[in-house]
Amino acid sequence: MAINVIFLTTIPMNRKMKLEKHLQSQLEKRKSKGGYRQLKKQRSALTDFSSNDYLGLSKIEEIHSYENDFIDNGATGSRLLSGNKDYHEELEIFLEKYFKSESALLFNSGYMANLGVLSSVPQKGDTVLLDELSHVCIKEGVRLSRANYYNFKHNDLQDLEKKLKKIETGNIFIVVESVYSMDGDQAPLKAIVDLSDQYDANVIVDEAHSTGLFGDSGFGLCCHLGLEAQIFARIYTFGKAVGVHGAAVVGSNVLKEYLINYSRQFIYTTALPHHSVQVIRNALGYRANHPELWLELQAKIELFNRLLSNNVNKLESEHPVQGIILGNAGEAVNFANYLYDHSFDIRPILSPTVPKGKERVRICLHAFNSEEEITNLCHHINQYFQ
Ligand SMILES: Cc1ncc(COP(=O)(O)O)c(C=O)c1O
Repeated sequence: MAINVIFLTTIPMNRKMKLEKHLQSQLEKRKSKGGYRQLKKQRSALTDFSSNDYLGLSKIEEIHSYENDFIDNGATGSRLLSGNKDYHEELEIFLEKYFKSESALLFNSGYMANLGVLSSVPQKGDTVLLDELSHVCIKEGVRLSRANYYNFKHNDLQDLEKKLKKIETGNIFIVVESVYSMDGDQAPLKAIVDLSDQYDANVIVDEAHSTGLFGDSGFGLCCHLGLEAQIFARIYTFGKAVGVHGAAVVGSNVLKEYLINYSRQFIYTTALPHHSVQVIRNALGYRANHPELWLELQAKIELFNRLLSNNVNKLESEHPVQGIILGNAGEAVNFANYLYDHSFDIRPILSPTVPKGKERVRICLHAFNSEEEITNLCHHINQYFQ
């Protein structure tokens, strides 16, 4: 009897220890390659050149306020069970108008919205073509579907068309970001939509880094270019320029109905609480009432691009996201530390978030960064690369 007890308890102990050891060795591997990640608090004494809060909306107190009396602290369930509230449906009607679409469906985050569409809509026998620099949640979403999928070279229309030509059967999806999260460049949306017409393909655009930007109201790049009616699905996220949290998928009524029935990321999760819904509504309303924020941001981007010297290996971008390529993890970390020491909150971006050899620092410009702060930043960057 005693022998049995020892036998039963020692095996799981060994397994547990083995797992800990394995995890530790993976961490050591990361450390030795210079790609180890650590949580770092944002120091208020530093100038923010790192957050995605491009317009500064996360700090506007007026957005936090409630119009209504108390409703609830939590939605209490999935939208399909106890969690479907008037406030969700009202916000969705507001979003339809804001983003010029037939329907809108809320998701708890941009990550979940991309997974929700891409894992459920493309089916076995379909083909998804995605830009090679697509965000991990796009890649992950497509991987969860049963469709075939291929990367095309970043923003390369010829490569996209070469791949479109090879597809013989099934539905075709082309997935792009309107503005790329790490490079800050735009997808050639008009040309992509033209190609999609030619090859009878459906375009899906992740508008994460253009939601809240473009135009007087901040309705993103697709609406700014007048392409919204030709795009199958658009994903808007509220955690970046809108300064809050959550996301929405917009498209046809059929798409919304389909996602409610088939998207596991929509069905099997607690719906957003009232407060989140209220601040999304408030933030978009605030943005629409303050078109000057977008003009101020554009002026700051223009200033930054003008002041940086040609010695700096900067990616071309007219967006608040600006990448300076260092080419390896060590150099990127050193450069970010140098900027940190000069009181700028700027982070290195390492592989696998960006391709190997493209390690960089990612600078985010904001409407609230003063001209003096930007001039000072450019001065230190130029000095480093002298
Ligand atoms: C292009 C892109 N799509 C989606 C997401 C995910 O959005 P969220 O932060 O709302 O989950 C991000 C966030 O980093 C992103 O950069």
